[in-house]
Amino acid sequence: MSAPKKLYIKTYGCQMNVYDSERMAETLGASGYVTTDTPDDADMILLNTCHIREKAAEKIYSELGRFKPLKAEKPDLKIGVAGCVAQAEGEEIMRRQPMVDLVVGPQSYHRLPAMEAKARAGEKALDTDFPEEDKFEHLKARPKAQRGPTAFLTVQEGCDKFCAFCVVPYTRGAEVSRPADRILSEARDLVERGVREITLLGQNVNAYHGAGEGGDWSLARLIWALNEIDGLERIRFTTSHPNDMSDDLIAAHGECEKLMPYLHLPVQSGSDRILKAMNRKHTAEGYLRLIERIRAARPDILISGDFIVGFPGETDADFADTMALVEEVRYGQAFSFKYSTRPGTPAAEKPQIDDDVASFRLQELQALIVRQQREVQESMVGRTVNVLFEKTGRLDGQMVGKSEYLHAVHVQAPDVARGDIRPVRITRSEPNSLAGELVT
Ligand code: 5AD
Ligand code: SF4
Repeated sequence: MSAPKKLYIKTYGCQMNVYDSERMAETLGASGYVTTDTPDDADMILLNTCHIREKAAEKIYSELGRFKPLKAEKPDLKIGVAGCVAQAEGEEIMRRQPMVDLVVGPQSYHRLPAMEAKARAGEKALDTDFPEEDKFEHLKARPKAQRGPTAFLTVQEGCDKFCAFCVVPYTRGAEVSRPADRILSEARDLVERGVREITLLGQNVNAYHGAGEGGDWSLARLIWALNEIDGLERIRFTTSHPNDMSDDLIAAHGECEKLMPYLHLPVQSGSDRILKAMNRKHTAEGYLRLIERIRAARPDILISGDFIVGFPGETDADFADTMALVEEVRYGQAFSFKYSTRPGTPAAEKPQIDDDVASFRLQELQALIVRQQREVQESMVGRTVNVLFEKTGRLDGQMVGKSEYLHAVHVQAPDVARGDIRPVRITRSEPNSLAGELVT
């Protein structure tokens, strides 16, 4: 048998890309590849790209430029671009960077083995179709390698919402939900391989409506079915849209034992005028009342969000509305971005606001969010949380894991193993984590 070929994948962007990169590695396993952590000894380099913000394509071109000496040294090295930049740029990538052998869009990863063979034969391989079939269905029969305690599981892809700033509906295509039985069998398989926590992924995960027994299933129904799997201890999901927070999903947050008290629910802005221009189809008040209902179902839930500042037309008053909304919600976690024009999206056509103004607003918002994150973390001190331990820490005998609320917690716990869940009393809040001690 010949020595395995080495595959180096660099992943950019969201958790869906992390999931896709893992599955691409497994798919190419069938072509004799094992993964490597460095591009230097690779036979194939794949960049799994993200197009959501900033000059993503330009960054990829300069990253590709850095591989030029490696390719000159190793003519057999194959270089591929996957993900949303591949989808958006297509053939243009090979025109601008002729050393690229393979360009594959996010819906075509199951075709990688054939594309790899084509590239090996010295031809260019390009596939940015949106095929009907499930791109990872073929992995059902894969060998059962042991996994870490947490895993992502993609349940739906694409988006039909068309927020005016966002490229996802164009790069990932229309919303498609995977059938429930496939998701459940993938989940059971993950649990057999050591996984104790599954995060269900989707660009619009709570719009999930996959085919299941008795008709289409909602995300809540899927979560209740996962709740039945022995050995699976924790369920999370991300990312959600406020308009798809259905009653059964809100109720599940109060009733479903394995569903964790953490919800990432982006609102983007606190100004109704801007929300309308963003095509969000909800108001700030509607979002606040929704948060109230979710907290009524699960009072201790930690709320997370996404914000965009400097959207075209945003005034000081609009920005003040965003700050007021944040004050009212009290986020445990939030991500904020300066608006960035995405070619082909409606907002890109609008007059853009001054960059210094946008930068100033971003700083203000981030300072408020950091303050809230600290307050929520500090409120944990003295409380006992359950920690799922994931890895060893930097100090001798230290283990690091996550609480129900997704806070990283480090504990002196030499006898605890990866995958154990233990009660921990929080003793200290640090900038990006909590410290605690095992409750015996
Ligand atoms: N500019 C800035 N932020 C954006 N996001 C999506 N598109 C853009 C854009 N054009 C942010 C949104 C979204 C998160 C994943 O990325 O806040 O929720
Ligand atoms: Fe983009 Fe809006 Fe769809 Fe989220 S809901 S993926 S922000 S279009």
